[in-house]
Order: sequence, then C-alpha cells, then structure tokens
Amino acid sequence: MGKLRVLVTNSGLQQVAIEMLKERYDVDVCPELPFPSRQQILQRISGSDAVLWFSKEKVDSEMLDKAGPNLKVLATMSAGYDHIDVKELKKRGIKFGNTPNVLNAAVAEVAVLLCLATARRLHEGRITIENNTWVPHQLKNLIGQDIQGSTVGIVGFGGIGQAIAKRLIPFEVGQIIYSGHSPKLQAKEYGAEFVPFDQLLRQSDFVIVACPLTEETREMFDEEAFNKMKPNAVLVNVARGGIVDQPALLKALKEGKIFGAGLDVMTPEPLPTDSPLLSLPNCVLLPHIGSATTKTHTAMAVLAAKNIIAALEDKPMPAPV
Ligand code: DGY
Repeated sequence: MGKLRVLVTNSGLQQVAIEMLKERYDVDVCPELPFPSRQQILQRISGSDAVLWFSKEKVDSEMLDKAGPNLKVLATMSAGYDHIDVKELKKRGIKFGNTPNVLNAAVAEVAVLLCLATARRLHEGRITIENNTWVPHQLKNLIGQDIQGSTVGIVGFGGIGQAIAKRLIPFEVGQIIYSGHSPKLQAKEYGAEFVPFDQLLRQSDFVIVACPLTEETREMFDEEAFNKMKPNAVLVNVARGGIVDQPALLKALKEGKIFGAGLDVMTPEPLPTDSPLLSLPNCVLLPHIGSATTKTHTAMAVLAAKNIIAALEDKPMPAPV
C-alpha cells in the first residue's frame, strides 16, 4: 500500500511540522506565495487523506467534494474555526482538530498592546509628530485613559480571555467582569465577576472581545451596543472582525460615543486601503497578528501535525473539535 497523502495549504508552515509529516506520509505543499487562492487549493486537494489547513479560505461542501472520499482528517492551524463547516465535516465522518491554548499568551499580549496603544493614543501621537503638530506643555494634549483602577470587561472568558485577565491584573485594574454563556470556575483565580453582556457594556472602561465568531456573536457589537458603552470606553478586538458591526463602530468612533478602538481583526481581511477606519485617529489597527510569534506559530503547526498523525493512526487527537 502506498503512503497516505497529506496536503499542506501554506508553504510558510514551520519546517518542523512538515518534517513530522514527511517522516510518515507523502506531503504535498501548496507552493504559491504568499498563499494559494481558493482555486489553487481546489486544484490540489483531490485525493488527499489529510489536510493541514492554514488559510482564511472556507472549508465547505465544494472543497470537501473536491477533496473526495479519501479525506479522513482536516487540521486547521488556528484556534478559531468560523471558516470551517464543521457540520459538513462531521456529516461526512471527517475528523477535525484545531490549535487552541498554545496561542493564548501571544494573543493576550496583543490584547494588552492594543489596550495600552488605544488608551494612550499611540497612533494619534505618532501622527502629531509626523505632521509637526506636537504642541509641548499643552495640558490638553493627547490625554488618555488609565488602565490602573479601570473596569475591564472581557467578552468570552475562555483560555484567551483568562490569559488577558492574568496579564492585566499587574496593571492594578480596579475590577474584571466578563460575559459569556455561563460563569467559569476559573474566574475566581482572577477575581472576575460574571455579568450579563448589557451590564458589561455599561460598566466597562475597557471592553475586550475574546469570544469565538458564531451565529450568536456575529455583529453583537451593533449600534445599540455602542450606545450603551461609556464615552471613555476603549474597545479591543482580538477575536474576529465579524463580531463587530463595522459601520456601527465607525459611527461610534466618529461621534465620540466611545473613546477608541484597537483592532487586530476586522472585516474584510486584508482591510482595503481606502477603508474609513484607516482615517480615524482613535483607531489602532494591526493586521491580524495575534498568534504571530515564532514560538506560537511553531507550537500551532506542531499541534496541527499531531492532530493529523493521531487521526490517521486512529488514536485520539490532542486537540479535537
Ligand atoms: C486563531 O488561531 O484563530 C487566530 O486568530 C489566528 O488565525
């Protein structure tokens, strides 16, 4: 019997993970740089026994039909899987794994970065220097918000939400509150209180989005939500752009309904260069780099490879969905 065939959808995948797979299987790597298009993946996926998916493209019936009946496992190199039709995978008996937890610290670091950068008007400050409009000794110049003593509201208190709380506590925050489906046992460790989403919006000085994108959370930050937030509130999103109604956010930022927004994720990605978000001084933007460190990407790639190896050997996957 020939070797099983594994497709890797991104040629940037860490070599250590590629080697793990090559020791056991015939590995085909989509060669296109910086990443293959949907069409290019569709052209290569046919006959794969396993796919290591690192792409924003959707895994849906069309993709799975093209893969064909050999496909036994799909492992995404991401914690989030809103781009994957999990129901369709289950229906076809295809195993599915993701890469949770190993990215918690890196994403939490970016959340802290965005809290600080937005609250202290980093983007606006830089513009002031570039435009030669820096007025020294002006008491109203670039006045920001304190994290110390603030109420931090975290939407979604899973691994990433908890990692954010852990990192913000040393900044001497006043209180941590969180919302989600149900209270979490671990919340005690952080002195965090479970509250309804509405209350979180009304009380928080920092609102940090760390929940998955689902039908329930899609655009939960709409105009009504922004109307409930405090005018000094900073919104930070390290989860998915789709959780925020972006035109409503734009309006809230322009009208000063909230103080500012720090976004690692937005809609669409990449953000077009003519997006009005780019022209707002109170919006700090990053190009979805939450998990993008050498250590974290390596851990994610290795976990995705382990998911594939376990599934193909009919053993329990380390991170099944
Ligand atoms: C994830 O793993 O879900 C991060 O957002 C990177 O895509």
